[in-house]
Parts: sequence; C-alpha cells; structure tokens
Amino acid sequence: MSEVHSEGALVAGAVRFLQQRLPLARLAKVKLGIVLGSGLKDFAAQLQDPVAVACKDVPNWIAPRIEGHGGSLVLGDIGNVTVLCLTGRIHGYEGYAPNEVVRNVRTCRLLGVQTFLLTNAAGGIGDELSAGDLMAITDHLNLTGASPLIGPHDPDFGPRFPDQTNTWDKELRQLLLLCGSGIMQGVYAGLLGPSYETPAEVGMLKKLGAHAVGMSTVHEAIALHAMGARLCGLSLISNLAAGIADTPLCHDEVIDAGKQAAAQLTAIVTAFCARLA
Ligand code: HPA
Repeated sequence: MSEVHSEGALVAGAVRFLQQRLPLARLAKVKLGIVLGSGLKDFAAQLQDPVAVACKDVPNWIAPRIEGHGGSLVLGDIGNVTVLCLTGRIHGYEGYAPNEVVRNVRTCRLLGVQTFLLTNAAGGIGDELSAGDLMAITDHLNLTGASPLIGPHDPDFGPRFPDQTNTWDKELRQLLLLCGSGIMQGVYAGLLGPSYETPAEVGMLKKLGAHAVGMSTVHEAIALHAMGARLCGLSLISNLAAGIADTPLCHDEVIDAGKQAAAQLTAIVTAFCARLA
C-alpha cells in the first residue's frame, strides 16, 4: 500500500528541496513573493540574476499547465529588491483540491516570504472598469464552495478559524496605488470555473458587491493570510464580464490582454519594489 502523506509533510518536502536548490543568503533577503496570473508570465524576464527552478522538479508540486502560465519559480532582483516569483499557478478547475492549488504558495511562505503580490486576469463587472484597467484588490468573495483550510488542522498553516477582516493589507494597497496612474480598486470574486459566467451570474455577482471576477487567487489569499503573510493583489481586467459587453469571451483574449499590459505591470511592480525597499 502506498504511504499517505499529510499536506504538511508534502509542503515540508518541497521546502527542504528548495532550501537546497536556492542560495539561502539570497532567499533570506526576499522582500516580495509574486504570483503571475494568465498572460503575465513574461514579467519574470525582467528579473536580474535569476535563479529558476522548474515547478515540475520540485517534489510534491504540481506544474502549471494552462496556456499563458509559466512553469517556474524564479529568485531574482528588481532594482535592489530580491523577489521570489511563481510564473504560473494551479487552478481548482484543473481538477485539483484547494490544498494542491496552494501548495506552491504555502511552500514560499514557509521558505520565509512574508509579503505577497497576487496577480490575475479577471473580467470587469464594476461600472467604472474597462478592459485593460488594473484593479488593486480590496477584498474578495470566495464563491468556489471550498477552502484550502478544509481538512485536518495543521498549525503550520495557521489557526483553525482564521480571521479574515484584513486579508488584503491596506498599507500595501496604498503603496501599490502610488506606483501607477489610474489603478482602480475593488472586490474580486473567485469562482471555480472553467466556464465563464453567464450574464445572469454576472448580474448576481454585481449585486453581491463584486467588481471583478476570476477563477483563481482566493484560495491562495485564504491560505497565505492564515499563515500570517501580508497580501496585496492586482487584477488585470482582461475583458468585461459576460453580459456587460455583448461579445462572447475567450481565453486568447485574456492572454492577449496580459501581453499588452505586461509593460505597465512591470513598471508598477518595479516601482512597488522600490517603495518596499
Ligand atoms: N470571468 C472569469 N474569469 C476570467 C474572466 C472572466 O470574465 N476574464 C479573465 N478571467
């Protein structure tokens, strides 16, 4: 019979491996963990002196497979700030459990990273949002019906019943808003996907207080906040959500929007790192 490992043991295995593969003195200097969303992987090319590890080589990690996502963990510098960047992520709609979705970010947290920037592509719902806008996440709605904290309690992953009042750190958000002009703010609704929403669902999300909708980020936010990390988030509004615009949605449009926004995102994150320093 194969041995069953707890989630804690799986994450610990990944931590041990990366502690051997990454230069520890540099790892200890990391000021920011970054997760890149759909179409945003090219940002990692901006990192200076990169040390990259393929996610598929990290024990117990699942490699990102969705088009528009990269598949590595990169330790590198932006200006004089060291960052640890995941160039892609895992999604629940791929069939993975929430624990599996967050295994890579939990590993980064246990490697010592305190502060994270979670990025994603999202559909715009809020009246003031247009395609191409960037939105700093003020809060989220977890509408996936699941949580990475379901299951046996592991104190390494935070309290049994974590508070979520300040999941998205206000100070970090204020800093982020200073780093680009016209950055909007709003609530991100995370759904399981993979189908885009129906117009009726988008109408419901709007009534619930969502400004943007996507298929990621909320499980990472829940897991990292429970582990005491400070979080900020940036959604690229790649399209207007279904029924807000009357054109049908497609993933290519999401990836193209990411490519178009890459330079802007790079400038914002670079400025953000300078302010964090
Ligand atoms: N809905 C859900 N996820 C998304 C969207 C959307 O409109 N755009 C990019 N990711």
